[in-house]
Amino acid sequence: MVAKVINGKELSMELKKEIKREVENLHQQNVIPHLTVILVGNNPASRSYVNGKKRASEEVGISSEIIELSESVSEKELLDIIHQLNNNERVHGILVQLPLPEQINVQHVIESIDPKKDVDGFHPVNIGRMMTGQDTFLPCTPYGIIKMLQSKNITIEGKHAVVLGRSNIVGKPVGQLLLNEHATVTYCHSKTKSVTEITKQADILVVAIGRPNAINKEHIKEGAVVIDVGINRLEDGRLTGDVDFESAAELASYITPVPRGVGPMTITMLLHNTLKAAKEMVI
Ligand code: GUN
Repeated sequence: MVAKVINGKELSMELKKEIKREVENLHQQNVIPHLTVILVGNNPASRSYVNGKKRASEEVGISSEIIELSESVSEKELLDIIHQLNNNERVHGILVQLPLPEQINVQHVIESIDPKKDVDGFHPVNIGRMMTGQDTFLPCTPYGIIKMLQSKNITIEGKHAVVLGRSNIVGKPVGQLLLNEHATVTYCHSKTKSVTEITKQADILVVAIGRPNAINKEHIKEGAVVIDVGINRLEDGRLTGDVDFESAAELASYITPVPRGVGPMTITMLLHNTLKAAKEMVI
C-alpha cells in the first residue's frame, strides 16, 4: 500500500476561507475579533509559532497583537497583564505561548485566563467540558487532527486509536477527542512496555513524542492511518516529524506530512476558536 497524504496546508486554506467569511460578517456588525498572544522570553521556536499565529489572524481579518515579555518577568507581572486582558472587552482570545520560564507556574497562568477567552482550550473548565462532550474551546492541535480525519471521511467510531505521547497539549486531549468520536483509545508513553506490539494494533496512530523519525513501517500495521504531530528541527535546518514518512507511507493508508501537515491545522483551529469567542460575546 502506498499511503494517501492528508495535506493540512490545503485543508487549512479551505477552512480559513470559511472563517474569513464569518469574520467579515462580524465586521459588518462592528465587531472585530481580537486575539492577544503573550510571548515570554526569546525561544526561537516559540517566536516563530507566535509570528505564524499573527500572520494567519491577519489573513482572515482577525486583529491580533503580540505582547512580548522578558525571560525574567515575574509570575505576578504576567498574571496582572492577563487580568487586564480578561477585563478588556475588545479582547476576545488570550493565548500565552508555552513553554514558560521556570519562575512561572504554568498552571497558575492557565487558570488565570477567563475560560470564555481561553482559545487554547487549556483551562480546567474547558478541559472538563471537553471530557464531558459539551460545547467548548477544543485544544487546537487535537481539534485539527479530528478535522483532518473527517476531511477524508475516515471512520473513527469503533476503530482502535493509539496515541503515542501524553502531554497536556496534544497526547491527552487528542485521545479524549478520539474517545468522544467513539474510538477505542490506548495511550503509550515513556513507561509503556512493548510499545511496538501496541502500535501494530492501531487503526489510527497519533504520534506526538518529539523524537525525529522515531516511528517507521516496523511499528505500524498495513492500512493504518498515521498522524504525525512532531515538528523537529534537524541540524541542517530541515523540519521533520516524529514519523519516518517514506517508510511509514509504504504501509499506511493515510499519512500526514511534516511540514504541511498538522502544524497549519493547529493555527487554523486557533482562528476558529477566536472567531467562536468573538461570536459568543456578541450574543
Ligand atoms: N506551545 C506549543 N504548542 C502550543 C499551543 O498549542 N498553545 C500554546 N499556548 N503554546 C504552545
